[in-house]
Amino acid sequence: MNAPEPQMRLNRFLARCGVASRRHSDALIQSGAVRVNGEVVAEPGRVVAVSADQVECRGRVLTLPGQYEYVLLHKPAGYLVTRTDPRDRPTVFDLLPDLHPGTVPVGRLDLDTTGLLLLTDDGALGHRLLHPRFVIAKRYEAIVSGDPHEDQLDRLRAGIALGDGPTAPAQVQVEERWSSGWHKRARLSLCIHEGRKRQVRRMLRAVGYPVRQLTRVEFAGLTLGPLVAGQYRRLSPGEVRRLKAEVGL
Ligand code: URA
Repeated sequence: MNAPEPQMRLNRFLARCGVASRRHSDALIQSGAVRVNGEVVAEPGRVVAVSADQVECRGRVLTLPGQYEYVLLHKPAGYLVTRTDPRDRPTVFDLLPDLHPGTVPVGRLDLDTTGLLLLTDDGALGHRLLHPRFVIAKRYEAIVSGDPHEDQLDRLRAGIALGDGPTAPAQVQVEERWSSGWHKRARLSLCIHEGRKRQVRRMLRAVGYPVRQLTRVEFAGLTLGPLVAGQYRRLSPGEVRRLKAEVGL
C-alpha cells in the first residue's frame, strides 16, 4: 500500500490532488491562486509537508488521496478508452465510479475489443507496465475468419513485418475450429509483449485471418476471473505488490 510521501513540491501536490496537470498546476500557482497555511505561494517548487501544511486552491482546501487507485475493468465492446469524447460516445469512465481524477487506463483497447483494462493513477507503475523494457505479457483470445494453417501462425511466432516495423515473436495457438455455413472460423490464443495500435488485428490480417472478435484475457498476470463485461473490481494489495515487483518497484 502506498502511504503518501510526507513532503512534496507544491505543483506535484496539486497534480496528485487532481486539480490540474503538473504543467497547469505551475501556471495556477504562479497566478497566485494557491495558498499554503493562508499565505499565497507563487513558487511551484515550494516543498510542502503533506500532512502538516494546509494547501488551498482558489479557496478550496486540498487533500491528497490516501492511496492510489488500481482498478480492473472488463471492458465491453462499444466503449472508448478515453476520458472524454468530443462526439459524446460512451467511454469506459461511464462504467466506473468516481475515481481519483488522475486515474488513467494503462494502455488501450479498440472500441470493438473487449476484456481486461487496468486503470491507475500510480504513474510509475503505469509507465513501467507499458515500457517495452519490462516485457509485460498480454494475452488475447481472437475469433478469426478462416482455417488457420500452422505455417501462417509460424510467421507470427517468428515475428512479422507490419507497416510500423517487425513485431516481436508471439505465442499463438488454435483453441478451436468450426464451420458456420460455408464460413470457417477459429478461436486463437495469442500472447504478445508489445502494445502497438490495433496490433493483434493487424498481425492476424497480415497472415490472412481477419479478426471478428477480440478479447484481452490477461495482462501482466492479471485475469478477468468472474467479472462479466461492464463489471470492475479494485486490485487487492497482494496483486498490487506482485505487479510492482514484476516491474522492479
Ligand atoms: N490489439 C488490437 O488489435 N486491438 C486491441 O484493442 C488490442 C490489441
